[in-house]
Amino acid sequence: MLDAFGHPQSALVLGGTSDIATALLGALVADRCRTVVLAGRDDGRLRAAAARLADAGATSVETVTFDATRPEDADRVVARCLAAAGGQVDLAVMAVGRLDQPRRDGLDPADVAAVATVNFAWPAAALASLAGHLCEQGQGRIVVLSSVAGVRVRPANFPYGAAKRGIDAFALALADEVAGSGVSVHVVRPGFVHSKMTAGRRAAPFAVTPAEVAEAVRRGIERDERIIWVPGFLRWVFVGMRLLPPALWRRLPA
Ligand SMILES: NC(=O)c1ccc[n+]([C@@H]2O[C@H](COP(=O)([O-])OP(=O)(O)OC[C@H]3O[C@@H](n4cnc5c(N)ncnc54)[C@H](OP(=O)(O)O)[C@@H]3O)[C@@H](O)[C@H]2O)c1
Repeated sequence: MLDAFGHPQSALVLGGTSDIATALLGALVADRCRTVVLAGRDDGRLRAAAARLADAGATSVETVTFDATRPEDADRVVARCLAAAGGQVDLAVMAVGRLDQPRRDGLDPADVAAVATVNFAWPAAALASLAGHLCEQGQGRIVVLSSVAGVRVRPANFPYGAAKRGIDAFALALADEVAGSGVSVHVVRPGFVHSKMTAGRRAAPFAVTPAEVAEAVRRGIERDERIIWVPGFLRWVFVGMRLLPPALWRRLPA
């Protein structure tokens, strides 16, 4: 249940080793979130993240492993996570994602399939499962890490951008689907974030840190914002980006 100040007391993160999600959890635990479930693919990294949260004040931190290349398992993974949280969670964060590999000789169909699965098929299946459970409990917030990459898809990484566009649209439609149930869905659209996902890549303009995304998300869910842009003014930058003619859009630096 939310505490008297409306802060979540329990949280579940799918993609529990994500740099952005880890920063968000740090902020939530500082705000007295005490029960945390971290789900991810690497047990060692999950345990290390769990130990940091326990040191920061979380009283129960459980870990669950899964592989987001297997969407048919998503419902079972969500059920295991909820059981590990004691049956209920106030906040669920979808942070699973991966970029496509740098291209040399055209698209690699196997990589395109993996990027579509990890960024769209698995998260969509897990969100459907989460929404069902949270609606049954009658309350809860779902935070989905989308990206500006899906607002207008760039030629440089269009398998990733197209999958992000899909999960963004899915999450917004899910927000409509659960309206009035006590459950809310918040779609986060960061620009470039300095995290392990972008390590070694040239930073885009207006790059932010995971801590800045965490603060924007914390504020956004407090204000019940449906779409949270990070930084906020990217909302206006992308009004212009959407209007650029294709010939100009293609020439923008990668
Ligand atoms: N960084 C950016 O510039 C940026 C911008 C906009 C949106 N986002 C989105 O924000 C979210 C978090 O990204 P981040 O920057 O925090 O990067 P990150 O640290 O690499 O987080 C990505 C998460 O997805 C997990 N993951 C990847 N493939 C998986 C698989 N097959 N099975 C299970 N888990 C898998 C990663 O696990 P491992 O730790 O084991 O790799 C990690 O927990 C992603 O959805 C990303 O698309 C990032």
